[in-house]
This record gives sequence, C-alpha cells and structure tokens, in this order.
Amino acid sequence: MKYLPINNEVFTVNRRNFVSRLKPCSLAIFNSNDEFPRSGDQAFLFKQNPDFFYLTGIDQEQSILLLFPECPNPLYKEVLFLRQTNEHIAVWEGHKYTIDEAKAASGIQTIYWLSEFDTILHSIINYAENIYINTNENDRYAHTVPYRDIRMLETLRSKYPLHKYERAALIMRDLRVVKSSIEVELTKKACQITRDAFLRVLKFVKPGVAEYEIEAEISHEFLRQRATGNAYSPIIASGKNAIVLHYVDNNAVCKDGEVILFDFGAEYANYNADMSRSVPVNGRFTKRQRDVYNAVLRVMRAATKMIVSGTVLNEYQEEVGKLMTDELIGLGLLDKHDVAKQDAKMPLYKKYFMHGTSHHLGLDVHDFASRYKAFEAGNILTCEPGIYIPAEGLGIRIENNILITESGNIDLMADIPVEADEIEEIMNG
Ligand code: GLY
Ligand code: MN
Ligand code: MN
Repeated sequence: MKYLPINNEVFTVNRRNFVSRLKPCSLAIFNSNDEFPRSGDQAFLFKQNPDFFYLTGIDQEQSILLLFPECPNPLYKEVLFLRQTNEHIAVWEGHKYTIDEAKAASGIQTIYWLSEFDTILHSIINYAENIYINTNENDRYAHTVPYRDIRMLETLRSKYPLHKYERAALIMRDLRVVKSSIEVELTKKACQITRDAFLRVLKFVKPGVAEYEIEAEISHEFLRQRATGNAYSPIIASGKNAIVLHYVDNNAVCKDGEVILFDFGAEYANYNADMSRSVPVNGRFTKRQRDVYNAVLRVMRAATKMIVSGTVLNEYQEEVGKLMTDELIGLGLLDKHDVAKQDAKMPLYKKYFMHGTSHHLGLDVHDFASRYKAFEAGNILTCEPGIYIPAEGLGIRIENNILITESGNIDLMADIPVEADEIEEIMNG
C-alpha cells in the first residue's frame, strides 16, 4: 500500500458498532473483493471491498472476516482469515500480510490462514441461528457477476439450509454513512492531494495542450503524494466535450476560447475526493462564460447551505432545481412563461442540469447510503451543480465535498480556488 498506516482503533470501533446491531445468536461473514482477470496471466489492480476494509483495514485479496460475538468458543468471536504467504509468493507477487502485521492493521487478535476457514466455521456455525452475509445493495448496482459473498452464500445455503440468512448490508448502510474523525481526516487528505493537482493543472493549461497531458499532470501529483490513483476515471473535457457527463476519452486538444471542465479526485487509503472545476483554456473567461460560471457558483453556494442535518435528498434536489431555474431564466436559456406552465414532474431546468446535485462520498465515490434517510452529522456529501449548453459548446460544473457537523457544515474543499477572478489570477500569475 502506498498510504501511511491507519490507527486500527477506527476498524475496531466499526466492528463493535456492527456487532452491536446483530440479532441475538448471530454470526457474520465478510469477504474481500475478487481479483479480476484482465488478459493472459494478468489481473486488474486489486481494489478492496469497501465494507471489508471498513471492518478490517485489511487491503489484501482472498481474506475473510468472521464475527460471532456470542460464540461459545471465545477464541472465535472475531477471526480474520488470510491467504498464507510463502517464499514463492513473496518472490513473485511481493509482500503479503504476516500474522503480526495483520493484527496491527486490523486490531483483530485471532488470525488464521485461509485453509483453516471451513473447519473452524463448521465447528461453530451450528451454535448460531442467523448468518449475516454481505451483499451489494447499492441502488445503482447491477448484478452481473457473482462475487465472493454471493458464491459463499450459495455454498452455505446448500450446506446449512435451515439457518436463517440475514442481510449485513442493512447495517452497513446505516453505519458507513456517518463518518468517524479518522475517516474525515483520510477524506481531507484525499481533498488536499486533489487541490495540489488542481493548482498544478492551473499552471499547465493553455491553448494547444491535450486533455491527456493534463490527465498525466494529475496522475503524477496524485502518485507522488501516496494516493493510490484516481478515485474514478478523471474527466478532462474541453469545449463541447463537457456536455458529455461521463466523458473520459481525454484525447482532444484544448482550444483558445474554450472552457475546460475537470472532474477528478484522489483516492487515498481507499477514501475518495470528488472535485469539479471549470476553467478558461486561455486563462480568461469571456463575459458569457463568466455569467454562466457565476450562475453555477451561486447555486452551489446556496445548495451548500442546505446540506445540513435533517435535509432530505429529494426535497433538497427540488429546492436546488428552483434556484437553477431562476438562474437559467437569467441566462436567457429558459423562458419564465414556459416555466410557469411546466410539468412539475419534468421541470424544464433538467434540459441544462440533468444530474443530481449531491451524493454521499466515502469509501465509494457514490457512497452506500439510503436516499430516503435525512442527512445527519458525520455525512459527507458532494455539492455539484452544473449547466450544460450544447448550442454554445459550453459545460460548467463546480463540485466540492461537504462534511455535515452538529452545528452546520464544513466545506472540505474551501481552500481550492473557485472564484472566477481567483482562477484567472493563478492562471496568469
Ligand atoms: N465524478 C463523479 C461524480 O461527480 O459523481
Ligand atoms: Mn465528480
Ligand atoms: Mn460527484
């Protein structure tokens, strides 16, 4: 891992919170992510399952966590199973956790090699009534490939058909959405690295530079500061490319007079930043570009004020839609008479602002959370309004990451330049 060691207290507390919500006489099993084949003998870079990381801090493939707080054999109340390393693996694949290192990373005291899993599980499973298995219940997840937890569920169901199977995801959804102070610190670190990359890019952008050259600058800054890499495929979209919301080709040359939309963020210790900025390629906004920019910025500022405890996502989106509608009328993009007659279910602003304003952010960029539960202290959300005008080859989005506290909120990206004047000053400085 590139990142510095994390205080294992955070994982110990997470496990304690998780088991406190189990039904009596329950056992829970969590699996690490699969390694995905790429081609030939290669695999894609391993990415740990966020729930597994949340509970263990273990960033290694082929690992299993077993939690059974009422286990009659006290040795097996909390057990981590790891892939056994050997000299061959050490030489060919590099370092894997030793038992002591895994204890230090996770705070778990009982660690076995994976080959012991079936025997140990069989020795205790009949003393449990409920078996919690972790499935991916993200609203946007489409189940196409059976992952380790699903495969384990199938095996266990056939071996132990009369146990009751329960959804760990219901507990994880409530826990993960409230970030602890260590999680906030790790997110802040991801934001700081992202800021440094943006400042570097502001000095680099000029007419004739290619989008991929900008991407290279960002990756360089991320890696030299111990980020694992990009939190998601970075969007470096000049001119009309910014209209494509998930543009990731990043292969065009930036032209004089265009605005370039960046949406990138660093991943540090599995925590993510998610930032968008829109800047003039030649260092100066035109009057029109600035007007659109400032409209987006005003919506962002007003929306940020609403990201507080008690806000409900749907109602918030509706309020932001009203603010955006007024701005679009001001920019001459919508007609107030048309707005007066609009179908409330299909508001006209969506023609120019077609995505949501906010999503939870954490171990997943679109973090696991209920979209119906009111925001609460400890949540981190993005705030990312945008205006996209195909006829003008112009797309502007501004996105910051906001932490909700007991007394309001804190913009974790408050130190990243956002005013049009400030951006121009740095680009021309
Ligand atoms: N970068 C993905 C998003 O803004 O949601
Ligand atoms: Mn983004
Ligand atoms: Mn986002």
